[in-house]
Amino acid sequence: MYRTHHCNELRKSHAGENVTLTGWVNTVRDQGGVIFIDIRDREGVTQCVFRSEENAEAAKISHTLRNEDVIQVMGRVDDRPEIEGQSTVNEKIDTGEIEIVATDLKILNKAEVLPFQLDKELSNEDLRMKHRYLDLRRPRMNQNIRTRHTITKAIRDALDKNGYIEVETPILSKSTPEGARDFLVPSRLNPGKCYALPQAPQQYKQLLMVAGMEKYFQIARCFRDEDLRADRQPEFTQVDIEASFVTSEDMFSLIEEILADTFKAARGVEVKTPFERIDYWEAMDRYGSDKPERRFGCEIVDLSEHFKNSGFGVFKRAIEGGGVVRAINAKGFAKVSTGQIKRLEEIAKEAGAGGLAYIQVRGKEHDTWRSPIVKFFNDDELTAIEKDLDIEEGDLILFGCDKRTTVCDVLGRLRLECAHMNGWLEGKEDELDFHWVIDFPLLDYDEEEQKWNAVHHPFTRPKAEDEHLLEDESKWSEIRAEAYDVILNGNELGGGSIRIHESDLQAKMFRVLGINDEEQAENFGHILGAFQYGAPPHGGIALGLDRVVMLACKEDSIREVIAFPKNNKGNDLMSHSPAEVDFKQLRELYLKSTVDDKKKS
Ligand code: AMO
Ligand code: AMP
Repeated sequence: MYRTHHCNELRKSHAGENVTLTGWVNTVRDQGGVIFIDIRDREGVTQCVFRSEENAEAAKISHTLRNEDVIQVMGRVDDRPEIEGQSTVNEKIDTGEIEIVATDLKILNKAEVLPFQLDKELSNEDLRMKHRYLDLRRPRMNQNIRTRHTITKAIRDALDKNGYIEVETPILSKSTPEGARDFLVPSRLNPGKCYALPQAPQQYKQLLMVAGMEKYFQIARCFRDEDLRADRQPEFTQVDIEASFVTSEDMFSLIEEILADTFKAARGVEVKTPFERIDYWEAMDRYGSDKPERRFGCEIVDLSEHFKNSGFGVFKRAIEGGGVVRAINAKGFAKVSTGQIKRLEEIAKEAGAGGLAYIQVRGKEHDTWRSPIVKFFNDDELTAIEKDLDIEEGDLILFGCDKRTTVCDVLGRLRLECAHMNGWLEGKEDELDFHWVIDFPLLDYDEEEQKWNAVHHPFTRPKAEDEHLLEDESKWSEIRAEAYDVILNGNELGGGSIRIHESDLQAKMFRVLGINDEEQAENFGHILGAFQYGAPPHGGIALGLDRVVMLACKEDSIREVIAFPKNNKGNDLMSHSPAEVDFKQLRELYLKSTVDDKKKS
């Protein structure tokens, strides 16, 4: 037997027992001949004392131990003694009332000096990734991975309780239009043909509804070849759900139950249900985002009414062109630095703004307002914005003027950056603002490609009241979808919709998206065909499991809750993937690398 107890198990009540512990050397302290070893396993640490009077040989070997050696310690559980009237109890650890008086020691494996210390945070993420197996030894990472397990289990249990069954769907599958690029896998047996890794099991789960499964779920790995960010990995995990004979309401209450169970299991908190619902355009107009962060104010205010006939040409022209003039009041941020204004301007321009107009409110009187633009405003305009934006001394006002969607995006991003610069969200980690964003538009016009795209995906159903608008292209941007996203603290946790289940409506939708009959038959023949054999009304949702776990663990990046993530270039720095492959392997797949033919020959 390797051990009798784990390293966070022994308490005062075990005093006098002979025990065996195994684990890693966490710390070694030499106190004038007496050696203290803290032994660690995944549960915690226990202090072991080596004295030569107990076992001279073991005490001698204990002198040679180094951090992270793997050891087995045999000994007796003892109360920690008082030294010169002082208690040696360590209240910081659960086993702090006892120690093991070691009677024997076995080294199971020696460790080299580690490339980094485990008890210090390390800012060099590359180094952490290169030695991920060591990084995962840290208590925080260990806890995150275990919380992920707890959450996955809570989700499975909640779905099982509600009659959902877990079904696996293919990884070697066919391209499905979720909006990102596909990862392709060339087929040796079918020269010139490729599988696509699933961006989501969307079509399979709908086909399972046609198959009469009624309630499906899968903890599904998804693959998307897109630019990576803190909350995006090329492979990630969805809690993928689909059900027949359901309405949006059924999905809302199911997901609310799952998320409440999850946060209860992971963090012991009660989540208030039902979640509030916000209309997509309300979210955009007030917060400039379809995943609003509502834990601070600084809402967007529309000022178009006041600037219709303004002497300030930029504002006037924007409104004349069908656009809007809006602003946010970053309270107390008048002392913004030149560098910060530059940064805010950069962000505004990245979001499509022509520039950034602002006012630093230095005092009560309008003539104390510092701004490149107030000189163009008349008194009525100044008084109007003062009232609408609730301007007080010390505030910073940031303006956006352009078409509505651009202004929403610009001010939405500026709002978040101001919060970041001022620490408005600090100390709010325990505030959980769950809500739904509903009534998304069905379609979105891509100016560059000059075509309509599905905002969610092509299988999403238009709202019944709006379905007739499909007949009139001039109304397409007004059609609302039976689609919904669940948001937590400015993060999109998941999204879904009620689907189209009629083959004629689905074909019409494909046509709207510019997919002609031939392409439909070739790429979507299976689903259009399936819908002709008694497809039930159905709908579903997918939660991003990595994001749920990230937020439950109060982390800033999903990389902190994935055992072996990729870096922001999509590389695994530990195993060095992606890697070059032997030209023979390429030849078997009928592929030829055009990158560096020379090097390989
Ligand atoms: P969607 O594309 O909105 O919907 O994805 C659902 C959820 O998956 C998470 N997610 C990601 N997480 C990490 N890295 C990524 N690259 C990434 N991309 C998405 C997000 C997102 O909310 N088939 C539909 C769902 C449906 O209609 O049922 C779908 O995939 O949390
Ligand atoms: P700890 O708080 O457990 O890290 O202990 C702090 C220090 O107290 C240790 O580094 C030891 O030097 C000392 N100490 C703890 N337990 C004992 C003990 N049983 N006998 C003597 N010194 C002890």
